Amino acid sequence: MASNLIILDEYLESRKTLVDQALELYMPAESTEPPVIFRSARYSVFAGGKRLRPILCIGAAEAVGGPIDAVMPAACALEFIHTYSLIHDDLPAMDNDDTRRGKPTSHKVFGEAVAILAGDALLTDAFRLIAGRTPVGAVKAETLLQVIQEVALAAGWFGMVGGQVVDIESEGKAPEEKTLNFIHTRKTGALITVSLRAGALLGGADADALDALTEYGRHAGLAFQIADDILNVEGDAKALGKGTGSDRSRGKLTYPALVGVETSKRVAAELVEKAVEDLRPLDERAEPLRMIARFIVERKI
Ligand code: IPE
Ligand code: IPE
Ligand code: MG
Ligand code: MG
Repeated sequence: MASNLIILDEYLESRKTLVDQALELYMPAESTEPPVIFRSARYSVFAGGKRLRPILCIGAAEAVGGPIDAVMPAACALEFIHTYSLIHDDLPAMDNDDTRRGKPTSHKVFGEAVAILAGDALLTDAFRLIAGRTPVGAVKAETLLQVIQEVALAAGWFGMVGGQVVDIESEGKAPEEKTLNFIHTRKTGALITVSLRAGALLGGADADALDALTEYGRHAGLAFQIADDILNVEGDAKALGKGTGSDRSRGKLTYPALVGVETSKRVAAELVEKAVEDLRPLDERAEPLRMIARFIVERKI
């Protein structure tokens, strides 16, 4: 166990370094006109963050023997989309949060208009990045088109945006399991699942490996949001880099609100075991993904 943890730390750290280097390459400099949009986008992207979605994308490609270079633009595009979602999620009109990734939220620093525009720009540029920077030759054009469509589906009204809508609409209402699962699978699960699918597709996965990684993504994605709900109840705000206790005060529909913290932990642990089981058809190259599944519920950050 201890040695696994060390290996996981090394894996996360080394892949995070690759992602951060690539993000630096893909993000325009702060001096680009008009500077405030590049300053604000860079502020949120480089504020920190675990880079989980790009790491899952890379991990999926590695699990099927694909080259990292082919997935790097898509991996970074997923981080752009995720960062945009956080900037907008924190806005006064949504969760109204003051701290993110250990720093004041974008709208606190740059004002609401620029925060909204920074999110818009990151979302839009994500697609330019996948379409324009994925190495031609390494990937078939039809595979790239499929990835672009799937990322759009996962981010938009059939995915994250749809989940965010119902999350907001459900504030203060009586908890209902069906609605909660709708919210969680879309607002968080969709982007996590597509991170794995994008990595698998760009990495050249066969149909069985793609299915296995998709199911892993579904289970791990749901577990991830349940863990996020639990951390909002009993996590350490400083370690998390964001406020806690806010779900309860806003009357959010969460797992702890529906079934309590202890049952939420059990459900999350069961989902992680399912995620690990999903990877059975894959060999030892999927080991980092198995460890990441466990990290998702054991994490304190
Ligand atoms: C937080 O995501 C928002 C959710 C979708 C639960 P992360 O916990 O991955 O946030 P960062 O990227 O590490 O800041
Ligand atoms: C975040 O959900 C989901 C998205 C940003 C799409 P939450 O609102 O529960 O996440 P945190 O707790 O603010 O990070
Ligand atoms: Mg929210
Ligand atoms: Mg929030």
